[in-house]
Amino acid sequence: METGRAPIYLDNAATTFPKPPGTLQSMAEMFSRVGASPGRGGHAMAAEAERLVGETRRQLASFLDAPDPDRVVFTSNATDALNLVIQGMANPGDHFVATELDHNSVLRPLHHLAEQGRITFDLARFDDRGFVDPDEIERLIRPNTRAVVVSHASNVIGTIQPIAELGRRCSERMVPLVVDAAQTAGARRFRFADTLGIMEPFGVFETIATLRSKVDLEIEMHAHDDLGLATANTLAACKAGATHVNTTVNGLGERAGNAPLEEVALGLNKLYGMETGLDLAQFPALSEKVAAASGRPVSWQKSVVGEGVFTHEAGIHVDGLLKDPNTYQGFDPREVGRDHKLVVGKHSGSHGIMAAYARMGLTLSPAEARELMPDIRDFAEKAKRSPADHELLFLLQRMIGRSRPEVMH
Ligand SMILES: Cc1ncc(COP(=O)(O)O)c(C=O)c1O
Repeated sequence: METGRAPIYLDNAATTFPKPPGTLQSMAEMFSRVGASPGRGGHAMAAEAERLVGETRRQLASFLDAPDPDRVVFTSNATDALNLVIQGMANPGDHFVATELDHNSVLRPLHHLAEQGRITFDLARFDDRGFVDPDEIERLIRPNTRAVVVSHASNVIGTIQPIAELGRRCSERMVPLVVDAAQTAGARRFRFADTLGIMEPFGVFETIATLRSKVDLEIEMHAHDDLGLATANTLAACKAGATHVNTTVNGLGERAGNAPLEEVALGLNKLYGMETGLDLAQFPALSEKVAAASGRPVSWQKSVVGEGVFTHEAGIHVDGLLKDPNTYQGFDPREVGRDHKLVVGKHSGSHGIMAAYARMGLTLSPAEARELMPDIRDFAEKAKRSPADHELLFLLQRMIGRSRPEVMH
């Protein structure tokens, strides 16, 4: 119909329209240059047709990650293929599991075989978000189940079913899984993996930006931390147009680990204003849980979640923080569920010392704080840590005893 506008074609599968230019070109070449049927005669044109079919098989096997190109079977459309598989597999008395989301090209042969009394089948339901539940599919499997048939994505509602999980469940039960990928075969996301963790942010940016300009697929970044650059590389990928990232809590992972979720989420938000939908204030609890479950404690200085990363001791920092937190904070620790912790130690100044005692309800004069400073330094150097409250009280008492013995009881 001529409307002057390009049609929106909703009948895609065997009837894709318009055909991609590459398809048109190959068909034209086939009819104008090759002409012959594969396997029909040994002349040059038949051999070329044979070669083309073999090459198409090989490319399809690689595209679908299938192990053997010789087992790729061409059919005239998906309906034909699904009939071939279902009718070909069904033996009298067999049972099939399919889903309510399956296409007619699955449901018709199943109904047909069931009406003839040759098979029985069950259909898994889908929930109000359009997903089938792998648990339900597994429950429907019986000892005589010949196959589970699932539409990867229905042409009506388009939700993509958890096919990897279904594959795992079916293989555990030794039941073949037939996937109708009429709407989905092909790439949706390109995963870029710096498997050895040897890239750096400028190179990652350039590579991902080049990819972004050439494909309209989703791009996923997978970074390892062997050179300590996993977070930087992941952020660079996002800046260059990556749409998805791989992260792990606390940066757990093979060797030096992967990009830590807490760093990437915070970096995306703080540096690029990107929203991840994560509640950053939950990081401490999450990090603790993962550390306990994995048996890998988080280092004291691990950014965002390490115990010491909001702890301040140096005199000038503590003084600044006490006067105005913004002088010594890049972001408010409360955003990631944390608080500043002021401790005294060998780098403390008098204001920090006064504040530490003030927290315990004791008011020290600047002169008293200065007098205590060498004792606190001495303690921190020997103990290799900050004094706890009861130790601070002891140091104060000792100082008073030293300088004003008449005050001691
Ligand atoms: C999910 C699904 N399966 C199977 C088919 C049948 O495909 P064909 O038209 O290639 O026979 C379609 C067609 O739309 C489909 O969407």
